[in-house]
Amino acid sequence: MGDTEATRVLVVVGAGTMGQGIAQVGLLAGFETRLVDLSLDALEAASDAIARRIDRTSGPDTAVAIARLSVSTDLALACRDAYAVIETVIESMPIKVDVLRVACESAPVDALLGSNTSALSITEMAEGIGTPSRLVGLHFFNPVPKMQLVEVVRGTRTSAEAIAAAQTLARELGKEPVVLADSPGFVASRINALIGNEAFCMLEAGVASAKDIDTALKLGLNHPMGPFELGDLVGWDVRLKVLEYLHANLGEKYRPCSMMIDYVAEGRLGRKVGRGVYDYPA
Ligand SMILES: NC(=O)c1ccc[n+]([C@@H]2O[C@H](COP(=O)([O-])OP(=O)(O)OC[C@H]3O[C@@H](n4cnc5c(N)ncnc54)[C@H](O)[C@@H]3O)[C@@H](O)[C@H]2O)c1
Repeated sequence: MGDTEATRVLVVVGAGTMGQGIAQVGLLAGFETRLVDLSLDALEAASDAIARRIDRTSGPDTAVAIARLSVSTDLALACRDAYAVIETVIESMPIKVDVLRVACESAPVDALLGSNTSALSITEMAEGIGTPSRLVGLHFFNPVPKMQLVEVVRGTRTSAEAIAAAQTLARELGKEPVVLADSPGFVASRINALIGNEAFCMLEAGVASAKDIDTALKLGLNHPMGPFELGDLVGWDVRLKVLEYLHANLGEKYRPCSMMIDYVAEGRLGRKVGRGVYDYPA
């Protein structure tokens, strides 16, 4: 990959929720980190937020870590000496392909190219760039500084070198990588979608209350959160979209439960609107 130990540059494209999280762990792992987005205002707000969060970590090197952050609206320029480029722009195939095409043309030929897509096909995305073998899915989880897992997704043309480089990068960022073939929902989201759906089917059938279903999974299966607590946090509209995508691609097993559809239609989306399966008074 790209550069020497001392000057390794991590380029993170997209300064939203995930881009900020990945930039934060990159800085704390010692990378010179460049955050790229469309507007300087968004970038300034993002770099302030990252600096505040790093400051709160109160390690001995926080000022040094913050000083390694730079921002840019010029993707090609930012990539020129990159060790790795990770795109975290909005979940749109054409936009991601545009970003990765520029990164592929501008970054050194041995720089890793990663996409943080939640669900889009890495194989299809790779077909849009100059060298498809360079692209790997690097699926981080939210909030990035806290969540240990990175799903490393192998497209049909991803090279073994790119997979090895992605595993190394994930570990350098303090994460545990798992490698999987490109398939809808990858591993964690696919299983989680089924758990959330089944929980709703059980609620609908009157098997147990929402609270008791949550308690059963927390105390009986050692899940840190119950399926309704987690769905309320993520948002049932987001959950329903994932299920619809899995249903369309993987079949009947993923058909969304009618009660979940009703909750979304009624606007009971979760914490973000103050009301989901549970109520969250303001
Ligand atoms: N939020 C999550 O919980 C989560 C978890 C895992 C993966 N993801 C995936 O990560 C990606 C980003 O999600 P997010 O929640 O951070 O989104 P977000 O909306 O918070 O941020 C996206 C950012 O991308 C920027 N952007 C859009 N087009 C761009 C371009 N052409 N060049 C540069 N920047 C551009 C936007 O200005 C915005 O700042 C998506 O693919 C999403 O599916 C999200």
